Amino acid sequence: MPVTLAVETSCDETALCLYSEEGVIGDILLSQAKVHFPYGGVVPELSAREHTRNLLPLLDKLLKDTGFDIKKVDFISFTLTPGLILSLVVGVSFAKSLAFYLQKPLVPVHHLEGHVYSVFLQRRVDYPFLALIVSGGHTDLYLIEDFGRYVFLGGTLDDAVGESYDKVAKLMGLGYPGGPVVDKLASAGKPVYQLPRPMMDEDSLNMSFSGLKTAVRRIVESLDYSKEDLCSSFQSAVMDILERKALLAMEMTGVRRLVVVGGVSANAELRRRFSELSERLNFELHIPPPKLSTDNAQMIAYAGMERFKRGITAPEDINPEPNTPLEVFGGQWS
Ligand code: KG4
Ligand code: ZN
Repeated sequence: MPVTLAVETSCDETALCLYSEEGVIGDILLSQAKVHFPYGGVVPELSAREHTRNLLPLLDKLLKDTGFDIKKVDFISFTLTPGLILSLVVGVSFAKSLAFYLQKPLVPVHHLEGHVYSVFLQRRVDYPFLALIVSGGHTDLYLIEDFGRYVFLGGTLDDAVGESYDKVAKLMGLGYPGGPVVDKLASAGKPVYQLPRPMMDEDSLNMSFSGLKTAVRRIVESLDYSKEDLCSSFQSAVMDILERKALLAMEMTGVRRLVVVGGVSANAELRRRFSELSERLNFELHIPPPKLSTDNAQMIAYAGMERFKRGITAPEDINPEPNTPLEVFGGQWS
């Protein structure tokens, strides 16, 4: 049974995973949240430097912890795109060096494909299904027809949802990453502030979140507000938009199977509202456990294994690409 070593460095998490089809052999992840905290967002140069500093010690620890012989790895999976280009360069160079040393193939993975398949680490989902991807860099709806066959349905025209959580947290002086803090504060507040839900009622699957952030800014600038209530109001508006667009996608495609993935799917209110909705409207819902919602290498290993089984490998001189769309990547490599 083949074993892969997966490398994920697209943003501010350095992550490695040893994986076979029987399951995860070992997994290691180092978050850079503390490094970026003072800046209220990820600083690309610092992110790349941290990946460079941490990849080898992490690999060393992973191999020691699992007792796994690196020479028994059959192929290297790695995130090729999308992400911060400097951070991708570090991860891709690391993957290429290992593949060269081991004389084993390289298997490129799309970061969003990893997120979509994060749910498969727990259970397989039948095709076709809809994927609502809500992360720090993306907010998109896709129809997943099969592995590698991805149809873009719509997405944000401005900020990604995670990005708007981070920006709203920064406005309120809550540090980085904003999602978990806003999530926690919101649970102690009430949605008392009237906030806009841009594009929510339009018959398109596109979305917009920057107006919502601007409305939050106005309230913050008034200096007289409750952080808990503002977080709750912001979150409630976000969830209204996401729910409405997911339901519209079901109506438009007739597909009643949904996965919600990416960092924001770790959100407690999102999980509560989508679970309630799926019970009430009787559709199939899959959300990964919070640890697999945010960036990790297990999801890259899973998608890498699927690609490897289909005979997809990359040339050894492959280079990272900052932003290849998922639907293009799927067709390009399958
Ligand atoms: O998927 P991810 O780990 O990285 C990207 O691919 O971007 O997503 C990170 C994003 C950040 O914006 C972070 O604030 C958000 O996910 N996030 C959350 C929560 N946990 C992480 N947003 C809302 N609630 C959470 N509990
Ligand atoms: Zn991600």
